[in-house]
Amino acid sequence: MVNKLWRVVVGSDDAGFEYKERLKSDLESDSRVAEVIDVGVHADGHTHYPHIAVAAARLIRDGRADRGILICGTGLGMAISANKVAGVRAVTAHDGYSVERSVLSNNAQVLCMGQRVAGIELVRHLVEGWLDLEFDESSRSAAKVEAINAYDQDRHITVGSSESKGAK
Ligand code: RB5
Repeated sequence: MVNKLWRVVVGSDDAGFEYKERLKSDLESDSRVAEVIDVGVHADGHTHYPHIAVAAARLIRDGRADRGILICGTGLGMAISANKVAGVRAVTAHDGYSVERSVLSNNAQVLCMGQRVAGIELVRHLVEGWLDLEFDESSRSAAKVEAINAYDQDRHITVGSSESKGAK
């Protein structure tokens, strides 16, 4: 059982807008959630997914949110983009086992899903269960997550630069 109330940032592009709105409404009435922060898009918005994903991920990086739910057409572009922010671990998952492991194995703060991939009731069910999951810092997964975080130190190396040629 989770002993804290979550601050959850939600976001979507226009391809994920309806699901984002529904999930936002669910989260706002969930007793496990202290705050829901909506980074868009809003009803008339057409911001491309990378900007929404990075805005959400930065809130997590800066300690202003604990978790994120990001919806686009597939959930793929949102995860790719959110993962550009150091310290943020975002996944795309549409099944219960992967959603569970994303927290318990990977300590992923961000769950991305696709409005064109999964039905709304499945997505709502997955988010409902996700709120009850919390990473165990004393678990055997902790060292692996630390290893992921250590690679954030390499982010100043640009792929294709001479400096990166000999990089692992
Ligand atoms: C639409 O722009 C679509 O490509 C987007 O929502 C997402 O699926 C990208 O990963």
